[in-house]
Amino acid sequence: MKYFVANWKANKTLEESVFWCESFLKKIKSNSNILKNIKSEEIKVIICPSFPHIQAVRSLVTKEGISVGSQDLSKVRGGKFTGETTALSLSSLIEFTLVGHSERRIFFTETEETINLKISQAIENDIQPILCVRNEKDKIDTRVNIIAYEPVKAIGTGKNEEVDKILEMKKKLRLKNQTIFLYGGSADKRNIKEYLRTGEIDGFLIGTASVNPDDFFESIESSFI
Ligand code: PGA
Repeated sequence: MKYFVANWKANKTLEESVFWCESFLKKIKSNSNILKNIKSEEIKVIICPSFPHIQAVRSLVTKEGISVGSQDLSKVRGGKFTGETTALSLSSLIEFTLVGHSERRIFFTETEETINLKISQAIENDIQPILCVRNEKDKIDTRVNIIAYEPVKAIGTGKNEEVDKILEMKKKLRLKNQTIFLYGGSADKRNIKEYLRTGEIDGFLIGTASVNPDDFFESIESSFI
């Protein structure tokens, strides 16, 4: 299975989220090969909108076999924590969540301890965590089955990491067998095919090239061409 995870970050109004889904679905439906591969789970597409739009996105895309994830969730189980979005409250809406994205580690000073609690909350609530790591210094939680390696200098810069360097880092991460290994950092239609050719990269966490539905579709399409 090849993974294509769209990380919209803090972008999009409700109307824009709905428009994105409608445009993307139109594209998917016009390409019987991609549609077939999504339905048969050869391709796993996961859309991560911002919290308020998860429900709307979900109602549009899941019937086509597309999954929904959150970009984050709370480390607390629930209770008197104003403003928090718990894993329990998300559990009927999403299958996946990003955890430990470098933007959260850097701009919101998320520690390994916080990330550990978030992973626990996700797992307790049947949500699959996709743990983002910047390098071998970030802790790999052995409970996690999906790891996204995202070198900070490649994120949003158009300077995607070289294939060899990604494979070197994969070795350093010493992942347990069967771990799904994703790459993120300016992944798009220009480079996806080359990464997949290695047979070592199971898919992509895509930011910039997921904001526009055509770019995201073309990123998926490029894996077939
Ligand atoms: P990018 O973002 O594709 O814009 O580099 C990836 C990410 O931050 O998840």
